[in-house]
Amino acid sequence: MKKIATSLMVILIFFLFAKIALAQEGQVDYKGEVIVDSDLDGLTDKGEEQIYSTNPGNPDSDGDGYLDGAEILSGADPTSVGSYPGKIDIAQAVAVVSDKTPWVWYIVRASGLLSFIFLWLTIFLGLAIRNPLLKKIIDPFYSLDLHCFTAAVAIFWVLVHATSLLFDPMIGFGIKDISIPYFSQSAAVDTNYMALGIMAFYMMAIMTVTSYLRRHISHRLWRVLHFLNPLAFIFVVSHGYHNGTDMENVYIAGAYLGSSALLVLIYFSSLAAVFWGKFNKKSV
Ligand code: HEM
Repeated sequence: MKKIATSLMVILIFFLFAKIALAQEGQVDYKGEVIVDSDLDGLTDKGEEQIYSTNPGNPDSDGDGYLDGAEILSGADPTSVGSYPGKIDIAQAVAVVSDKTPWVWYIVRASGLLSFIFLWLTIFLGLAIRNPLLKKIIDPFYSLDLHCFTAAVAIFWVLVHATSLLFDPMIGFGIKDISIPYFSQSAAVDTNYMALGIMAFYMMAIMTVTSYLRRHISHRLWRVLHFLNPLAFIFVVSHGYHNGTDMENVYIAGAYLGSSALLVLIYFSSLAAVFWGKFNKKSV
């Protein structure tokens, strides 16, 4: 039985490769020479040279572990290591997902953007109070409670954002995928950047919880943990930018990166104001 199955597989592969060779006929100029496939990857030498720009002496030109012929058959690019059979195109996957379960995907995206907005607001409030220029503007609205509240709202939206992914049958995420960095092997999402989002979430949770408990813990500990802020923000910006479907929209990506850059600017000017204040105190 095994032998029959193997023979059928070999015949099938032969016909698939023959199909490619036939498809090449007419497009490839063999100059009357014998048609050969030196590296046995399913593409003729001349076809590799004239059509596919692959190496006729190497069956796997891009070194991604897949034969050049198999990549052509599956629609992948045999010259790009990041493109191989079975790798799902994220835009295509999203299109399929949106068709079947639009509500989940819209919730993931909308809650991702909302968590970013509230995280931005939280950091802005924290920085503005130390910035002489912005302090004047925000003073009437500012309170430490508001700063903590916006952080808690950001956490709430991250929870919605991450748990909605569990309801997406197309991606098939489990609890471990969304809670353990680098656990997920999904091809539908860039899991390296998703890991940054997960780590950022933990940092945000630590900072928010310790802020609410700041009267019960040492001020030094609270301060040290608050230094996670810039790292968490960098992780979030890069996570959202690389994972986000909406980042394909130039206006959303522009607003996202622009507002992030503005926050970095405020961060450094507030830092400068603090150092300037300390320097002035010393010199008096
Ligand atoms: C458990 C942690 C997290 C997981 C599992 C996760 C997962 C994901 C996934 C799969 C996407 C792609 C969705 C899409 O195609 O649009 C995404 C996008 C995004 N995420 Fe996260 N994320 C996490 C944490 C965070 C955090 C902490 C923030 C911000 C505070 C955040 C903000 C965003 C943003 C802004 C997008 C882009 C949304 C868009 O396309 O409109 N995520 N996240």
